[in-house]
Amino acid sequence: MHTTVGIIGGGPSGLLLARLLHNAGIDSVVLERRDRAYVEQRQRAGILEQATVDVLRAAGAGERLDREGMPHDGIELRYGGRAHRVDFPALTGGRRVWVYAQTEVVKDLVALQLADGGPLYFEAEVHAVEGVTASDRAEDRPVIRYTHEGREKTLTCDYVVGCDGFHGVTRGMLPEGVRTTYERTYPYSWLGILADAPPVYDELIYAHSERGFALASMRSESVSRLYLQVPNGTDPADWSDGRIWDELDARFALDANPEWRLKRGTVTSKAVLPMRSHVTEPMRYGRVFLAGDAAHIVPPTGAKGLNLAVADVIVLARAFAHLKDTGSTGLLDAYSDTCLRRVWRAEHFSYFMTTTLHADPEQSPFETRLQLSQLDRIATSEHAAAELAENYTGLPLAQ
Ligand code: DHB
Repeated sequence: MHTTVGIIGGGPSGLLLARLLHNAGIDSVVLERRDRAYVEQRQRAGILEQATVDVLRAAGAGERLDREGMPHDGIELRYGGRAHRVDFPALTGGRRVWVYAQTEVVKDLVALQLADGGPLYFEAEVHAVEGVTASDRAEDRPVIRYTHEGREKTLTCDYVVGCDGFHGVTRGMLPEGVRTTYERTYPYSWLGILADAPPVYDELIYAHSERGFALASMRSESVSRLYLQVPNGTDPADWSDGRIWDELDARFALDANPEWRLKRGTVTSKAVLPMRSHVTEPMRYGRVFLAGDAAHIVPPTGAKGLNLAVADVIVLARAFAHLKDTGSTGLLDAYSDTCLRRVWRAEHFSYFMTTTLHADPEQSPFETRLQLSQLDRIATSEHAAAELAENYTGLPLAQ
């Protein structure tokens, strides 16, 4: 089998890329290692930047998002027993974000692709990408070897895009001497829960507390999504529902309103998420491209991961369309540099949000005071608040 673009990975970046290519008249094949149910159920973040919403709508995947997505015009910061709202439209000239879970985006894109798109194979395990060289010559086409329905198969591609996440195989196809990795791990994780409980407040709350970070988000009017900072290596089984709710209430506590409590409900899912920053450069080698988590990971604070993956894919789809229309590889050649500028901005913002809001177990009282001063600066300076709001709602996409 032959295709123009072989896409390894059927998460949001692979599926959206396939969609954008299809709409541009470019054929692709998506190979996803897991089954459909797994891909559609895995819980991830739920904040979409305006640019992400715009591209999903333009791609034809905006119908349910427009019905069920919840536009948000700000977030609340809680620290030192106080609350401060960051007003996004006022600070950014009208930008906002949307709450719509990544898993819903995936369901919408899978349905579209299966109804009207190129092949999307689930349980297709890639073993190797052969013929990967620094060269961009047509005769050096890469070949993907994979297993599907118990058979060994090959897919010859003009280009291969690795959308297969941090643990995927594609990044390893870039020779060691070519790749540089930048990495940071954090001395804490998140315990993320879903609960059948209405959110108490219609915006997200990010809380700094000496007990550790907490975040209140939502999935609908009756389902809350909540996160607690926990030590690395935490076993979710050690956190009973009661312990989770008590700890969340303690971290969100307000001096001016000591009666303030979350609404409690049955916890329906509980998982520990590690925190890491990672960037692999370059994001392209010969005819192989990396997009999304295959090339970069951000810690979740600030919800940049999915939006960053979408931005990569927009740049890449434009570059393939440009090649088709003009015969020029100019935009493909610029892909890595174009994406990495945005990637590093998001790396900095995610690091900033993470280290400003979490309690490092080794941190000194001096460092805690610095965090509180930084949060106070955001609460009292429009410039500091606008810096947060611009990054949170998403900087403009590169042209
Ligand atoms: C969510 C996740 C985040 O990491 C974040 O910063 C905000 C919201 C979420 O899952 O809703």
